[in-house]
Amino acid sequence: MTANEFYGPELAQMRLAERQVLEAVEELQRVWKAQGRQSPVLYTSSRIKSPESMCRKLAQRGQPQTRQAALTRVRDAVGVRVICGFQDDVYQVARWLEDQAAFSVLETKDYISYPKENGYRSYHLILGLRAGPGRGMTVEVQLRTIAIDFWASLEHQLKYKRQVPHARLVREELRRCADEIASVDLSMETIRELLAGSF
Ligand code: GTP
Ligand code: MG
Repeated sequence: MTANEFYGPELAQMRLAERQVLEAVEELQRVWKAQGRQSPVLYTSSRIKSPESMCRKLAQRGQPQTRQAALTRVRDAVGVRVICGFQDDVYQVARWLEDQAAFSVLETKDYISYPKENGYRSYHLILGLRAGPGRGMTVEVQLRTIAIDFWASLEHQLKYKRQVPHARLVREELRRCADEIASVDLSMETIRELLAGSF
């Protein structure tokens, strides 16, 4: 099934919502550049959740596999990811998005200050678009450092494997790597501050 068939007339609005959030991030990059500051954003990516993956999620939650449920029972039909160099930058971008008048913050999850048991670290925002081209839509934003993004893409593979050999060892090693990455992220931030002469 294509996204067009599943989401129907809502798809256009979903794409506008995706664009609107990406543009808010681009605006931040412009503002920082104009101020002569280095952009806090390395890159962004975005997606409309595929009908297959959406239907799987709805089924898991005992929801009907309809576009109505996809847009009201699940909040990540439209997703934007923002990858930053440093943890500090993640918070700067998050603040910027939270402060936009066009967005209302429906939920925040700070897995950086409060990492998940498996070691996952990211800042999640659920934005309700109350003005602008994507009005009425909900967008999930995931913000994280590039190092943790690398970790998350590997860890993600665990979820799709039914039988993982040495599963416990794999989990422990992933957890250890996440903690080490977080520690390196903080050291890198300190080095940046030292180079900027702020100590
Ligand atoms: P979902 O129903 O999966 O969206 O989870 P949730 O409603 O509990 O929200 P949460 O903010 O915890 O997770 C939202 C999304 O973040 C997930 O769909 C994943 O894309 C990502 N995510 C959350 N936890 C993990 C994790 O432990 N590992 C990885 N790789 N990604 C994660
Ligand atoms: Mg999700």
